[in-house]
Amino acid sequence: MNLGTALVTGGASGMGLAIVERLAQDGFHVVMADRNAELAERESRALRQLGLAVEYRVVDLTDEAATRALVRELVPLSALINNAGVFDERKFFDVDSGDYRRAFEINLLAVATLTQEAALGMAPGAKIVNIASRAYLGAKNHPHYVASKAALVGYTRAAAMELAPRGILVNAIAPGLIDTPLLRNLTSERLAAQLALQPTGRAGQPRDIANAVSFLAAPHMDFITGQVIFVDGGKSLGGSGA
Ligand SMILES: NC(=O)c1ccc[n+]([C@@H]2O[C@H](COP(=O)([O-])OP(=O)(O)OC[C@H]3O[C@@H](n4cnc5c(N)ncnc54)[C@H](O)[C@@H]3O)[C@@H](O)[C@H]2O)c1
Repeated sequence: MNLGTALVTGGASGMGLAIVERLAQDGFHVVMADRNAELAERESRALRQLGLAVEYRVVDLTDEAATRALVRELVPLSALINNAGVFDERKFFDVDSGDYRRAFEINLLAVATLTQEAALGMAPGAKIVNIASRAYLGAKNHPHYVASKAALVGYTRAAAMELAPRGILVNAIAPGLIDTPLLRNLTSERLAAQLALQPTGRAGQPRDIANAVSFLAAPHMDFITGQVIFVDGGKSLGGSGA
């Protein structure tokens, strides 16, 4: 089955890589876009060796002109998965405007550029999935990240309204703690504190997110838009389960 082209940003690592693999298994021709050339080349080659239709492009998604050019080269997209993002921890009173700018540049502005450019060329039935974070509900030690992901949820809802008349559905996934290289930005004490808040007592796996993306990007999914699906082992319930 050929489901058309899917673009997965930040697809060379972590949950992006799991999403690339899953969408290729589902029948999409998948393009992973990442700024890490070495990883993108290696991981896409490994997936092609498994017989999957995966290619890669190297791009820094904070470069607006390069990002627009990438999407124009690939239109029409059947699915756009806005997964690339950055995360770092900093105490509330140490965060400066540069931290906010860096977080918003990739976690929000790149998504807006990609969405706008992709939607212009999308046919009815196309899907956009944004990887937000459970942290948008509120979290300590990364206000810049929390604010950027809350903005992404707002953008998801706005884009869903704007694009519904074109038959394009836009949703977000809010992952909880997921076992990816991004977690290396947490100290071991902070990681333990985060795990203590998990009702399920463990971090999720990248494939847990890939499963949800697969559902939201599927051709037969045609009546859900503007929603946020929490894939967080129950963390958003607000207690540890104790
Ligand atoms: N891991 C978690 O616990 C967790 C939880 C909630 C949300 N998220 C979100 O999930 C998404 C994926 O995170 P991950 O954990 O897989 O992280 P990761 O660091 O393993 O992967 C992120 C990928 O994005 C790429 N990237 C970052 N900035 C880029 C840029 N400017 N241009 C091109 N590529 C860029 C990186 O090179 C990397 O390959 C992010 O948006 C993150 O905020 C992660």
